[in-house]
Amino acid sequence: RPSITPHFHPMLLYKDFWIPKFMLRGALAMEQRFKSRPTDIFLVSFPKSGTTWLKAMIFATLTRTSYPLDQHPLHSHNPHQCVPFIEREFATGCRQIIEAIPSPRAMSSHLPFSVLPQTITDSDCRIVYVWRDPKDVLVSMWHFAEKIMGGADKIPAFEQLYDSLCQGVNGFGPIWNHVLGYWEESKRRPEKILFLKYENILQEPVKHAKQLAHFIGCPYSEAEESQGVVEQIVELCSFQKLKNSDGNKGGMSFAVSDQNISYSYLFRKGGAGDWKNYMTQEMAERLDTIIEEKFKGSGLKI
Ligand code: A3P
Repeated sequence: RPSITPHFHPMLLYKDFWIPKFMLRGALAMEQRFKSRPTDIFLVSFPKSGTTWLKAMIFATLTRTSYPLDQHPLHSHNPHQCVPFIEREFATGCRQIIEAIPSPRAMSSHLPFSVLPQTITDSDCRIVYVWRDPKDVLVSMWHFAEKIMGGADKIPAFEQLYDSLCQGVNGFGPIWNHVLGYWEESKRRPEKILFLKYENILQEPVKHAKQLAHFIGCPYSEAEESQGVVEQIVELCSFQKLKNSDGNKGGMSFAVSDQNISYSYLFRKGGAGDWKNYMTQEMAERLDTIIEEKFKGSGLKI
């Protein structure tokens, strides 16, 4: 299909998903050249669903015994430096970065399940999937687009972006099929996919931190739990800590293009329900109805 540019980056329709052209190049290169290891851990998300947070959580969990927690790399490095976007590294020809990570590797992706290479879907490696209320995803995306494009006059009006999301025409969208792809697979293979929701993690971070550690193969010991290590990991990865860390002062490679952007763009409000400040009740109900219709019969609720 020809590429279109309805928003802020060109996309192609591939396997019924709108994939940013740059990331599709990475995905196709991965098909050819990526070889997963059974110990690999992939964080997958629809953009603006809590990727940065979960990257930090996974990395901090995996490396918690390698450093005293007050000297952990997350104090000085952004989570995106610690857990790379795999399709980005393949798109830019930097797959050695991925190959050089010692096992167990933590990597990240925005690709829909049906677009992941077989080496990931058919092997023993694990996937942590995080999703978020699409209404808050949209608000977060709109602000992020404004930052990367350098002004509100350079991006579509909020209502336009809203309409595109409702039509399923957004990078990696339709959002409902992105979420459903991982949801259905997590029901079939719960040992393969841990399916998490941003809002639930916000409500019970300690419970989810323990669940995550167990899933990725490094559960907290009784001694760690009684010493409050879980709470310390949650704190290390909290919005305020990450936003104010030294790692947030620099720049980073943008996930969906070869642009460099400021890390600070990734931390805005970090909560749930901000959509109420941007959408009319009617807009919210229309989007909820579309998603509920798509989720019908799956057991999944917003
Ligand atoms: P808001 O724009 O609603 O504030 P992603 O990392 O997938 O791009 O998602 C970005 C969203 O996650 C932003 O949402 C950002 O503020 C929020 N976020 C980043 N770090 C977070 C953290 N540690 N805890 C909770 N939310 C976080």
